[in-house]
Amino acid sequence: MRIEVNGRSHEAEPRPGQCLRTYLRDRGWFGVKKGCDAGDCGACTVHVDGEPVHSCVYPAFRADGRTVTTVEGLASPEGELHPVQQRFLDAQGFQCGFCTAGFLMTTAALSEDQLGDLPRAFKGNLCRCTGYRAIEDAVRGVRHVEEPSPGESVGRNLPAPAGPQVVTGTARYTFDIEVPGLLHMKLLRSPHAHARITAIDTSAALRVPGVHAVLTHHDAPERHYSTARHEHPEEDPADTRLLDDTVRHVGQRVAAVVADSEAAAEEGCRRVEVTYEVLPAVLDPEEAMRPGAPVVHDKDPSAARISRPRANVVGEAHGEIGDVEAGFAAADLVYEETFRTQRVQHASLETHGAVGLLDEDGRLTVRTSSQTPFLTRRALCALFDLPEDRVRVVAGRVGGGFGGKQEMLVEDIVALAVLRLRRPVKLEYTRAEQFHGATTRHPFTVRVKAGARRDGTLTALQLEVVSNTGAYGNHGPAVMFHSVGESTAMYRAAHKKVDAYSVYTHTVPAGAFRGYGLGQVLFAVESALDELARRLGLDPVGFKARNMIGPGDAMLTPGGHEEDLHIASYGLDQCMSVVRRARAQPCPREAPDGWLVGEGTALSMIATGPPGGHIADARAAVLPDGSFDLAVGTAEFGNGTTTVHRQIAAGELTTTVDLITIRQSDTDVVRHDTGAFASTGTVVAGKATLRAARALADLLLDFAAARLRVPRADCRLAPEAVLYPGGRLALKELYAAARAVGVELAADGHFGGTPRSVAFNAQWFRVAVDPGTGEIRILRSVHAADAGKVMNPMQCRGQVEGGVAQALGAALFEHVRLDARGAVETAAFRRYRLPQYADVPRTEVHFMETADAIGPLGAKSMSESPFNPVAPALANALRDATGVRFTELPLTRDRVWRALDAVRRTPRPPVSP
Ligand code: FES
Repeated sequence: MRIEVNGRSHEAEPRPGQCLRTYLRDRGWFGVKKGCDAGDCGACTVHVDGEPVHSCVYPAFRADGRTVTTVEGLASPEGELHPVQQRFLDAQGFQCGFCTAGFLMTTAALSEDQLGDLPRAFKGNLCRCTGYRAIEDAVRGVRHVEEPSPGESVGRNLPAPAGPQVVTGTARYTFDIEVPGLLHMKLLRSPHAHARITAIDTSAALRVPGVHAVLTHHDAPERHYSTARHEHPEEDPADTRLLDDTVRHVGQRVAAVVADSEAAAEEGCRRVEVTYEVLPAVLDPEEAMRPGAPVVHDKDPSAARISRPRANVVGEAHGEIGDVEAGFAAADLVYEETFRTQRVQHASLETHGAVGLLDEDGRLTVRTSSQTPFLTRRALCALFDLPEDRVRVVAGRVGGGFGGKQEMLVEDIVALAVLRLRRPVKLEYTRAEQFHGATTRHPFTVRVKAGARRDGTLTALQLEVVSNTGAYGNHGPAVMFHSVGESTAMYRAAHKKVDAYSVYTHTVPAGAFRGYGLGQVLFAVESALDELARRLGLDPVGFKARNMIGPGDAMLTPGGHEEDLHIASYGLDQCMSVVRRARAQPCPREAPDGWLVGEGTALSMIATGPPGGHIADARAAVLPDGSFDLAVGTAEFGNGTTTVHRQIAAGELTTTVDLITIRQSDTDVVRHDTGAFASTGTVVAGKATLRAARALADLLLDFAAARLRVPRADCRLAPEAVLYPGGRLALKELYAAARAVGVELAADGHFGGTPRSVAFNAQWFRVAVDPGTGEIRILRSVHAADAGKVMNPMQCRGQVEGGVAQALGAALFEHVRLDARGAVETAAFRRYRLPQYADVPRTEVHFMETADAIGPLGAKSMSESPFNPVAPALANALRDATGVRFTELPLTRDRVWRALDAVRRTPRPPVSP
C-alpha cells in the first residue's frame, strides 16, 4: 500500500484490521490522537483526499493511493500556519490541547455554509476542557491573546507557551515519543464483582507468539497501598495490592500480559485461565453498612487505615456545633429531604497510560499522564524498595485530568513489568478501560435538614452523608471530609451537625474529581436552602445573602479539618451583586411558546488547597544567553500553570515571558512538588515560583552591584540586562562573570501550602422547560467567580467556562450506569454522553475585584470551584419554572418529564379560599 501523508510517501502494508489512526502514528504522525477509537470524539480527525474522517474507524487499507493530511501538514511547507491554526492561537482555543488537532482538521474543511452552523459542524468533535466558547471564538476569528511586555505580565492575556506546538500537532503527550524495542501491555480484568482467585494458569498465554510475560498476583509485591496520591499517604487506606488474589469489582485487573504487539498481548489475555470462587457482592452503600452485608475489605483497621472494615466504612466524620435540636426547635419551618448524585466519569480525552523503561544508568524511568509525578515516584520507590535517585517520573503534556490522574493506576504495573523484563513497556488504557478500570466521581446520598425563622434566619443545618467509594478507598475519606467542610461553613447557622460515611461497595472505585465532594453536598445544601426559603415565602437569593458567611467570620464547620483556613479575601458579596444584576436584566433569549420559565442561583465556597500542607518547589536560574530557566514541579494538564508561572516569574524578573524557558513535572529537574490538584497550580506552586523569581532578582542585583561597585539601590532589572546609572550590564555577561568565580545565578522557592484562603463562586441560570418533553433549555448562564487577583483573565475565564460545561454534563445527562452485576454498562462515549458543542450555552463570566492576602500576588484558586454551584443552580431554576423540587441527578429529560407528568396526574387538593 502506498499513501502520501503531509507530502511524504509511505509504502507499508497495514496490519490486518489496522485503522488509519494507528497506521499514521506508527509512522510518527503523533498529532493524530486517540480519544475513543470508536468514531465518537474526533481527536483523530485527518483529511483523506481533503475530506475529514475519523481515522480511528477508517480502515488503513482504504487510504491506499490517497493523500492524507494530518495536523502536522496543515501549515504550508514553508512553515506558515494555516489561518485556522493562527485563529486557535489568537483566541487560545484550547486548554490541554488533546482535542485541538481534531477541531483544527474539522474546521479547516468547513465550507462557508457549515461555518454558519457550528453545532452541526462539530457534532463529531468533543472537547472536555474548554466548554467550547474559546473554540467558537477561534473559529470566528476573535483575538484574545495580548503581546508580552517587560514586567507587565500578571493580569494580562498572555498566550500559553505550548500554543504553537499544540496547533501544529508537535506538543508531546505521554505516548508521542518513539521508544525502540517497546513492548505492549494489556490487562485481563475481572468479570466478577467479588471473587477469590483459586487458580490461574498462564501457560497457554505464554505460548502465544510474541508474549514475553504474564504477570499475576504471584508476581506482585505483598504490600498494600492506595492508588490515591496525597502528600501524606496516611490520608488514604492501604487497601490495594498491585495484583490481588481477591477481586472486588468488575473490571479489576487480574493479570497483565506483555508482548511485542498489542494484538499479541490481547491474545495472551484471552488465553489466561482463571478459576474464581465467586463471592457475594454488595453494590449499594446503604446496604453495605447493614449488619451481615458482604465485607469488601476484611483487614486490620489500624494497619489498613480503615475506620470499620466489618461495616464497610472506610472513613467517617461526626461533629456538632451548638445544639442542632435546639436550633430546629427555634425554627418556624424545618425542611428535610434526601438528595442523590450519580456516578460520573472524568472523561479526559487522553486516557490513562504510561511508558516505562530503564535508562542508560539502569534507572527506572516512567513517562506518564499524571498530575502527581513526584508522589508517583515516592509510591514506586516504596512499592519496589528503590531509592528515590533510582527512579525518575516525568509527565509530558497531560491531555486532561480533572483529578482522575491524581492516582497511580498504571505506573505500578508498568514498573513491575519493566523491572522484571528490563525492557521498555507501554500500557495505554482504552476508552472502555477508562470506565471499567479508572475512577469516577463519588456518588453521594445526602440527607439535609435545615430550619429557619420566618424572618429569614437560618437556625440549624444538619447533614447525613453517605459517599460510595466503590471497591477501594482511594480519596474516599478525604473526599468525604472535604464535602462537609466548606459546604457547612458557608452558612452562619449557630447550630450545625454532620454525620458522614465513606462506604465500600463492590463497584468501580471512585476517586478525586473536580470539586472533591463539595459539588455533591452543595447540590443538596443549595437545593434545600432554596426550598426552605420558598416555603417560608422568602426570596431564595435574599435568604442566602442574609445567612451566608461574611468577611470577618470564622470558618465554622462540624466537618473539621479547617484549622488553617481563613477568609484572606472576600468576594461573595460581589458575587451576589452579579446575580442580582442578572436577575434584574431582560433575558436576551426568549422561551418557546408554552414552555415554563424559571431562574435559579447557587453559591459555593472552596479552600484554596488541601488541608495538611501541599508542598511546591521551584528553581529560577539565568541561562548563558541571558534568558531564564524556570523549573517547577507542578504538571500542566490544561490548567494553564505553564502560562501563569512564566507570567509570575517575568513580573518579578522584569522581563518578558518569551525569555523564560519553563521545565516542569519531571522529578529530575526540581525538588519535591506535591502535584497539580486541589487547584494548587497557581496558589501553591505559583507562590514557590514567585519566591524563586524574587530571590533570583535579588541575587542578580546584589551580584551586579558588587561587581560594578555601585550601590545596590541604583541597580534595576530590565529584559536581558541590569541597568545602573549610566550603564547597562547584559545578563549574559553577568552569567559569564558569575560562572568565572563559581557563583551560580539561581534561586529556589518553596511554599508549604498553608495557611489557606477560600474562593467563592455563584452560578445563576434562567431556563425554559418544555412540559411536554421535559427538555431544558438554558436561556442565560451567568457565573461570578472570586478568584482574587486574576493572573490571566483569558485563561481563568476558560477554566470557569470549562468547569461550568463539565458540571452541566453531570447535571443534565452524564451517568456511569452499572448493570445488576456491578459492571459498567456505559463504557463508551456513545453510551456515556459528554456535552457536545450544541449542548453548552455561552456562560457570562464575571471576576470579582479582590486581592488575597495569602495567595501569590493576590491570586486564589479557580480550577475546580466553578463546577460546584452549577447543578443546584439548575435544579433551583427547574423548581422555579415547574414547582417541582428535583432531588436526584442527572436532570435528564426523562426524569423531568416523568416528574411533571406525575404532578399532572396527581389531583390537586382543593385550595382554601
Ligand atoms: Fe479540548 Fe482538552 S482542550 S479536550
